[in-house]
Amino acid sequence: MPVPPTSGRLQWTDVPPPLRARLEDALGTAVTDAVTPAGGFGHQLAAALRLAGGRRVFVKAAPDDDPLTAANVHEAAVLDALPPGAPAPELLGIHRAAGWTAVVMAHLDGPHPDLSPASADAGQTWALLDNLTSSPAPGPYAAAVSTAPSTAASLHGWDELLSDPPADLAPAARDRLPQLAELEAAWPVLARGDRIVHGDLRADNMVRDHHLGVTFVDWAHATTGPACLDAASLAPQLILAGHTPADISRLLHEHPDTARNPDTTTAFLAALTGHWHRNARKPAPPGAPGLRTYQHRAAAAGLALLSRRLG
Ligand SMILES: Nc1ncnc2c1ncn2[C@@H]1O[C@H](COP(=O)(O)OP(=O)(O)OP(=O)(O)O)[C@@H](O)[C@H]1O
Ligand SMILES: [Mg+2]
Repeated sequence: MPVPPTSGRLQWTDVPPPLRARLEDALGTAVTDAVTPAGGFGHQLAAALRLAGGRRVFVKAAPDDDPLTAANVHEAAVLDALPPGAPAPELLGIHRAAGWTAVVMAHLDGPHPDLSPASADAGQTWALLDNLTSSPAPGPYAAAVSTAPSTAASLHGWDELLSDPPADLAPAARDRLPQLAELEAAWPVLARGDRIVHGDLRADNMVRDHHLGVTFVDWAHATTGPACLDAASLAPQLILAGHTPADISRLLHEHPDTARNPDTTTAFLAALTGHWHRNARKPAPPGAPGLRTYQHRAAAAGLALLSRRLG
């Protein structure tokens, strides 16, 4: 497996020529330009390709021995199985050559949504989630995600911090470490459910397309789970975008999905926040600049919510 670049993503010119040729063949025209959008922490190719004639498509590609290829293939299966009208780009194809795999999807045109209080994008995102989770996931989607092993048990951190609390741990966490560890331990069982779950909702995994409005991208972690999961995971993101913890706590109490499942929401927030607190303290991985800084900020946002929920 090639060593990932120490900063930023693989580029179109890093893709082996046989795969580039295969893609141009399938697209029926030459690629004239490739633009890597800002956002995300991955090291794989994720780029908007401009084709001769002006059309654009979006491509994600990595070597086959990179675990991101399995994630991309999973994402392709999900995009293919989502119900009509789901806020996701259309899958255009999967191509393999020279030991690499590329997933091609429709290009969405626009910025990341603005999840700050000043914008209507957060409201639109909640509405999209309501729609997505209002009924059980359709059969083809459930089948597409059924082979992916659950990652719920890997979402934890308080257990490790409890056994050796770091000196810089916020008092709000230190004071209730046993409770937080107990809550996160409950998460893997509560994670079961029959709704569509995107699983990684952040502003940089959404595009506000000029025609479609807010649309979710990066479905690599999609699964089935409880209806409240994506809404709960969006909550700390809204705090990072400038909402107050008080406002978002209220929203979680009022939003139907999270209000109906308060214990599941709390257990998930505990597991996610523990994961952030633990991982933020690890050495930075190669190819993911900014990840640890983000995790420190997210850890603080998650803890602010948990402090309010736990009183
Ligand atoms: N279909 C699309 N059209 C336009 N832009 C897109 C599309 N899909 C993704 N993007 C943009 O590309 C960026 C990277 O894509 P994506 O998040 O899917 O890659 P990733 O490598 O899986 O991400 P991460 O780094 O979050 O693990 C996104 O932040 C988004 O800005
Ligand atoms: Mg992403």
